[in-house]
Amino acid sequence: MPELKSVPQSKNMFIFRKTADVQKYLRTQAAKGLKSSFVPTMGALHDGHFSLLEIAKQKADFTVVSIFVNPTQFDNKEDLVKYPRKDEEDIRALVQRDCNVLYMPDPEEVYPPGSEIRSDFDLGGLDRPMEGAHRPGHFDGVVQVVNRLLEIVQPSSIVMGQKDYQQAAIIRRLLRVTESATELVVAPIIRENDGLAMSSRNVRLELNERELAPRIQEVLQWVKEQKGNFELENVLKEAVRRIEKGGQMKVDYLEVADGISLQPVQNWEDSEMLVTCVAVHLGKVRLIDNVLI
Ligand code: PAJ
Repeated sequence: MPELKSVPQSKNMFIFRKTADVQKYLRTQAAKGLKSSFVPTMGALHDGHFSLLEIAKQKADFTVVSIFVNPTQFDNKEDLVKYPRKDEEDIRALVQRDCNVLYMPDPEEVYPPGSEIRSDFDLGGLDRPMEGAHRPGHFDGVVQVVNRLLEIVQPSSIVMGQKDYQQAAIIRRLLRVTESATELVVAPIIRENDGLAMSSRNVRLELNERELAPRIQEVLQWVKEQKGNFELENVLKEAVRRIEKGGQMKVDYLEVADGISLQPVQNWEDSEMLVTCVAVHLGKVRLIDNVLI
């Protein structure tokens, strides 16, 4: 990594709330030939997010993180209202981890009144199964905001988590159909010690729910181990039964899908790269997770 005089090296982070300001700053960086790596988030940052930042640092001259709770991707009003926010803590954590630029806009900065921000991309059907089927409009909002953020930041790479497997696949497709020069880097899922995938929403679990939640990951691992031994259909039925045992968790969907097309498969042999994806309601929270097979 070249030594950079123009970019804050540590304990020094620019925070921008206005789109025009961040664009102006990023233009001066680009004029110097400096490349950025971008991590879009909705804040309430945890070690999963920070792992993306560490990867971003390796990918470019400087890092840009955005914190924006994007209203257009919430299909559930209560989820938006209750989405955890801890701006000050997030800022402190990003400074400590040597993030260079934080873009933290209000909705009007991302979606200026009167302007039309595109969301009508040809996603090749990737947005239809799983999350797409269960959260109508969700991915329209995600591609809308990510496309808009990419337009603003124009990074050389964007780092996203495998935690949201379908989202990452859709953004890969978005980059392709928009002929973007930005490279997508997909980062592994960071988990708590007991296996629960880290998520900003985990803090909304009651204590007893939190204790139950690692079962989701255990069952996904169990599904993986059944490959070749038992019929997929029966394995999936048993997996749902195991998750829902005791009545506190309710499976929204549990599917083994082709890792590229995301279409659910009927048999283990239907694809060489499979991924088991699950969404579970637990208390007031909806949790998602996935495991590659
Ligand atoms: P958010 O849920 O804040 O996640 C931001 C990024 O962190 C996503 O790429 C997500 O996959 C990744 N991430 C979350 N939990 C992770 C974990 N346990 N391990 C590794 N990576 C993890 O995803 C969104 O925000 C939004 O949809 C966004 C892309 C910002 C658009 O609004």
